[in-house]
Amino acid sequence: MDNFIFNNPTKIIFGKDTESLVGQEIKKYANKVLLHYGGGSIKKSGLYDRVMKSLKDAGVEVFELAGVQPNPRLHLVNEGIDICRKNNINFILAVGGGSSIDSAKAIAAGVPYEGNVWDFYDGTSEPKEALPVATILTIPAAGSEASHSSVITNEDGWYKRGLSNELLYPVFSILNPELTYTLPDYQTACGAADILAHIMERYFTSTQNVELTDRLCEAVYKTVVRNVPLVLKNPDDYNARAEIMWAGTVAHNNLLNTGRLGDWGSHDIEHELSGIYDIAHGAGLAIVFPAWMKYVYKRDIKRFAQYAQRIWNIDDNLFDLEDVALRGIAALENFLSSIGLPTRLSHANIDDAHLEEMADKCTASGTQTVGAVMKLNKNDVLNILKLAL
Ligand code: NZQ
Ligand code: ZN
Repeated sequence: MDNFIFNNPTKIIFGKDTESLVGQEIKKYANKVLLHYGGGSIKKSGLYDRVMKSLKDAGVEVFELAGVQPNPRLHLVNEGIDICRKNNINFILAVGGGSSIDSAKAIAAGVPYEGNVWDFYDGTSEPKEALPVATILTIPAAGSEASHSSVITNEDGWYKRGLSNELLYPVFSILNPELTYTLPDYQTACGAADILAHIMERYFTSTQNVELTDRLCEAVYKTVVRNVPLVLKNPDDYNARAEIMWAGTVAHNNLLNTGRLGDWGSHDIEHELSGIYDIAHGAGLAIVFPAWMKYVYKRDIKRFAQYAQRIWNIDDNLFDLEDVALRGIAALENFLSSIGLPTRLSHANIDDAHLEEMADKCTASGTQTVGAVMKLNKNDVLNILKLAL
């Protein structure tokens, strides 16, 4: 196990009706808030009205910025920064999924910064301060509700880039599984694929002697695999929704990678896919992850066989671990297809037109590698994308 520091400061408020606490929680930090949300699901579900009531009852003044798109865009972030500066707003509340939360984090980092907030995403500068952010989560998926990351798409060139910084941990996040009843099946499935990918990015490691975190990863993974079909059958199954929601947070709050090195190659490749094609991040991962596994499993057949045996109960075959490993990858693909996700680029109507461009962007024109189990150069990324066709 590697040395580590684990410090996740996000307070989690979990359970039924917990959104009614948002006003009194925010009041501990601020009197003025920017309420930031997406395309309208929170109005349709009635959540918006309940949030407004809680904020007003607590005496918090509310400014609003709606319209966050999945794969959130830089122009809206800049709009949010302007609104906060003009009105001396000192707290951002994101209500929604990873896109609203990531956009809120970008605004929070951008307000006190004199330069262009994109500097943080292209790596030319680092945030030194940020406004506090809180979240009310409506889709278990990205894990942004307790992560220190934000992923934004710059429309100028369709670059989708991430920023990670300790300042970006939300101060609190409200997780009410009832709020996820209204999710379309496809979004539930995309969220599940993202959660599984967050676990696998940590599970496939070259760090040795990581038994506890292996077992933690396996427990969270199996919980998602068992409960997703239940909610697709019965969207109002509170207990199953609750398991998935908490799994989504635990999968990405950095507990599962304590003492071990993650990979993140599949995420880097996927961000190029959703950056250019604007597909859901989870759907992109359902396509990229199996292809990545097929490309790299030979680097550590034992670990891929362990994954197959412990997650998918593939029979132990000591004489042919490669066969076990391959059957584990097939089991993942079958699961993803069974919950309605694409597992090939062609399933998402994507052809080979931009493979080269994606490989190029992903590796900074071939000058960098991505991933850790295998360091992938531009040609490797291209090969993985071809495998995914
Ligand atoms: O915009 P609205 O109308 O709210 O609709 C959303 C959106 O269309 C809908 N939705 C969300 N909750 C709903 C609902 N519809 C009905 N009922 C509900 N309860 O779902 C759609 C997707 O929302 P989005 O926020 O885009 O989903 P997700 O949470 O998957 O976020 C994806 C973004 O997060 C980034 C991804 O790259 C992507 O841009 N990620 C962020 C990470 C982080 N900050 O740590 C890590 C991840 O790996 C990921 O990269
Ligand atoms: Zn992800």
